Amino acid sequence: MYPRTRGRRLRESDAIRSLVRETRLSPSELVYPIFVIEGEGEKREISSMPGNYHFSADMLADEISELRDLGINAVLIFGVPGIKDSIGSEAYRDAGVVQRAVRNIKAQHPDMLVITDVCMCQYTDHGHCGLLSENGRVDNDRTLEYLSRIALSHARAGADMVAPSDMMDGRVGHIRDQLDDNEYKHVGIMSYAVKYASAFYGPFRDAAGSAPSFGDRKTYQMDPANTDEALREARADIDEGADIIIVKPALAYLDVVRRVKDSTGAVVAAYNVSGEYAMLKGAVESGILGEDAIMESLISIKRAGADIIITYFAKEIARKLRGK
Ligand code: PBG
Ligand code: ZN
Repeated sequence: MYPRTRGRRLRESDAIRSLVRETRLSPSELVYPIFVIEGEGEKREISSMPGNYHFSADMLADEISELRDLGINAVLIFGVPGIKDSIGSEAYRDAGVVQRAVRNIKAQHPDMLVITDVCMCQYTDHGHCGLLSENGRVDNDRTLEYLSRIALSHARAGADMVAPSDMMDGRVGHIRDQLDDNEYKHVGIMSYAVKYASAFYGPFRDAAGSAPSFGDRKTYQMDPANTDEALREARADIDEGADIIIVKPALAYLDVVRRVKDSTGAVVAAYNVSGEYAMLKGAVESGILGEDAIMESLISIKRAGADIIITYFAKEIARKLRGK
């Protein structure tokens, strides 16, 4: 009698396959990124990310209702300001795009978890994630003051969590102190702790108008070749008070997601970035790949150890999961 052990018995039917399935995905684990622009009555598709839109702050209510109906309970807000300057002053203005968007969302959907991206690159005329010093380098310590100002203005507008994506050293602790000193102890920090200097951010930089005008981000974002460094970055941010650790990008860094999860035990969010979205979306739309490739990719991120997935696929995957 050979073979005695038959793995295929547990694959015989839909029923048994779902009974023994190890990894599941639910809409409540997804975070949907939203881009907010100036103006009124605007909802325009983003050409580099088909199926995603630029919204003016007044147009968000329907989008948020749709997300709620799909079981998605969290959004990550990115601002695309009308004005840029050398210090990114639009980023911390109380009537800036993000601040207005947060107020609108919270007024109509107080249960929606609103997370705001905290950075300077969309707001500075040079496109770097921090202030420049005279010699053109990104000045870490002076940038911290500005990041905290931005985070505080988001908290004042009603953000539930802030997500610093700049990769300056010490910003999580600096922001935590500022929030705590200003009665925002309840506002969480989702830190882009492990963020690589990646070529997969291209479509986002088009959408946000945030490409650096000179040089690159390699002096602050991580070298794609490193994983021990990811553990050091994650540990540092946890020690400074981060509540959730982001690993970004996701698909080309699944080993990093697993290592960070296993070694820290932190709540880990993987960011399935714009280039990963564009690549898969393009292949599916042109018929090169079947659309199941999308679910398979998101399951792989979950299987690698992510608790949360930030993804531009959130709506279509939630629709699929709910059989809509
Ligand atoms: C920068 C920032 C980036 C993304 C979000 N915030 C990357 C970058 O330009 O370096 C990328 C998100 C994506 O590609 O989906 N603060
Ligand atoms: Zn930035």
